[in-house]
Amino acid sequence: MTEPQRGLRRGLTQYGDPEFALFLRRSFIRSMGFSEAVLERPIVGIVTSPSELNTCHRTMGELVEAVRRGALAAGALPLAFPTISLGEPYLFPTSLFLRNLMAIDVEEMIRAQPLDAVVLVGGCDKTVPAQLMGAASAEVPAVVLVVGPMLTGRYRGERLSACTDCRRFWARYRAGELDAEEIRTIEGRLAVTAGTCGVMGTASTMACLAEAMGLALPGSAAVPAVHADRLRIAEATGALAAALPGSGRTIRAIVTEKNLENAMRVLLALSGSTNAVIHLAAIAGRLGLPFSLRRLDALSEETPVLVDLKPTGRGYMEDFHAAGGMPALLRELAPLLHLDAPTIDGRTLGAVLAEPAREPVDREIIRPLSDPIAPRGGLVALFGTLAPEGAVLKRAAASPELFEHEGRAVVFESLEDLARRIDDPELDVAPSDVLVLKNAGPASPARMPEAGYLPIPKKLARAGVKDMVRISDARMSGTAFGTVILHVAPDAASGGPLALARTGDRIRLSVRERRLDLLVEAEELARRREAWRPPPPPERGWARLWHEEILQAPQGCDFRVLRANGREA
Ligand code: FES
Repeated sequence: MTEPQRGLRRGLTQYGDPEFALFLRRSFIRSMGFSEAVLERPIVGIVTSPSELNTCHRTMGELVEAVRRGALAAGALPLAFPTISLGEPYLFPTSLFLRNLMAIDVEEMIRAQPLDAVVLVGGCDKTVPAQLMGAASAEVPAVVLVVGPMLTGRYRGERLSACTDCRRFWARYRAGELDAEEIRTIEGRLAVTAGTCGVMGTASTMACLAEAMGLALPGSAAVPAVHADRLRIAEATGALAAALPGSGRTIRAIVTEKNLENAMRVLLALSGSTNAVIHLAAIAGRLGLPFSLRRLDALSEETPVLVDLKPTGRGYMEDFHAAGGMPALLRELAPLLHLDAPTIDGRTLGAVLAEPAREPVDREIIRPLSDPIAPRGGLVALFGTLAPEGAVLKRAAASPELFEHEGRAVVFESLEDLARRIDDPELDVAPSDVLVLKNAGPASPARMPEAGYLPIPKKLARAGVKDMVRISDARMSGTAFGTVILHVAPDAASGGPLALARTGDRIRLSVRERRLDLLVEAEELARRREAWRPPPPPERGWARLWHEEILQAPQGCDFRVLRANGREA
């Protein structure tokens, strides 16, 4: 059997003459001024995602330099290259629409170039999932390095950070409690350093889950973007990457069902972002591993919430880091984890956690298993006549008095309809009603934006209403809160029962029974279905590909064609 080729000999361009292809490749790379000895080294690709339209990634340049330092000193040849970058607030119609595009970019560029291992440098919400999905499919050893979270700002003595506080202050502005000048001042205090959102939003959740799955260095997820430790971690990640060529430590080899279940436990203990459910499902799909909402729900019943961070709690990511970060949380959760799960540095998770903690844990932020914040996990899955394939509720961010609720539906047909009518003083809506948004799911032209956090109608907000049951096939920002039922599947645009809901219908939510039901007679629903028509397909381009390939939320909104070939769960 021939040895697999390494370094510049790997994946030679096909001219029918491999020696010529290598000669040509070497002659071009010598223009970079590398010595011949360095060109013999294994190559560590640094997958970067810098962009001036991704402000969370502002520190990427110095991070890449630190990775390069570590890899070079450890005997590899580090070569950085960019992929597309997804800056959450800058993308239309939504960043999820482009996650799979970035995943394809990552996968194909890793596969096409002569890389023996890669460091995935990402951070903002969709970038880490896209990199994990792409690298999982490319099957080259890979280690994750996140840019890290931002630090908090101050407003009148209060700490604040993107983006839970963005929503909190905006809700107060809508309710007339803040004036235009105050909200403009606050706008300038929410994101005061480089880095990802400073709460347990999607970016921080995915950073923690990457570490929980064993794909990032221990203790790396929560270190702030501007902390010197972030650069030290980058250097150590580069050094680790230099040891990966030939190790066989691909994402497929590392992430087993056990790692995935550990990640689900951590998601629940963090009260992490609902978006992570979609991303974990997509990663599992790439690896041919089973992922089910019912399993997540079962784990939720026996996994307590241990971390007290916004949006559901009080602290910020900088507090989580200071409290001990992921190693401290994982040690607390250890009795519930698969400690024999492998990690990227070759040890099991149990061996990693057996290292003594360097500092005492701040129990205000990371609670012991014996004294949790909540005895059960932050997320629940719901099923019923309105969501036959499931929906997700962030229980930890919801109002317990709405957990068992039956109300009249007030239905918005689309995002445009929502924007047009939600603040109409004539809107017929009461606090006990259930707000329903249709056609914001993966198969809709809206492409599943983070619009599930429907605003409380202005007239109710001004009357002091803080929460209502809200249902949609959309997603919600990991930084948002409320009794918000998301990811209803199948979505309305693919003909799920949500498409048939009308204003005036009764809807029943029971968190206890895990039910979400549309209380309408079957004959009436059949009549409505006769009249239902799907939205027309886009004519061309990425939107057309998306339309043809997109899977529903329980399958991670990945493309059918990108899931593990022949290894479907
Ligand atoms: Fe980039 Fe929140 S906008 S992580």
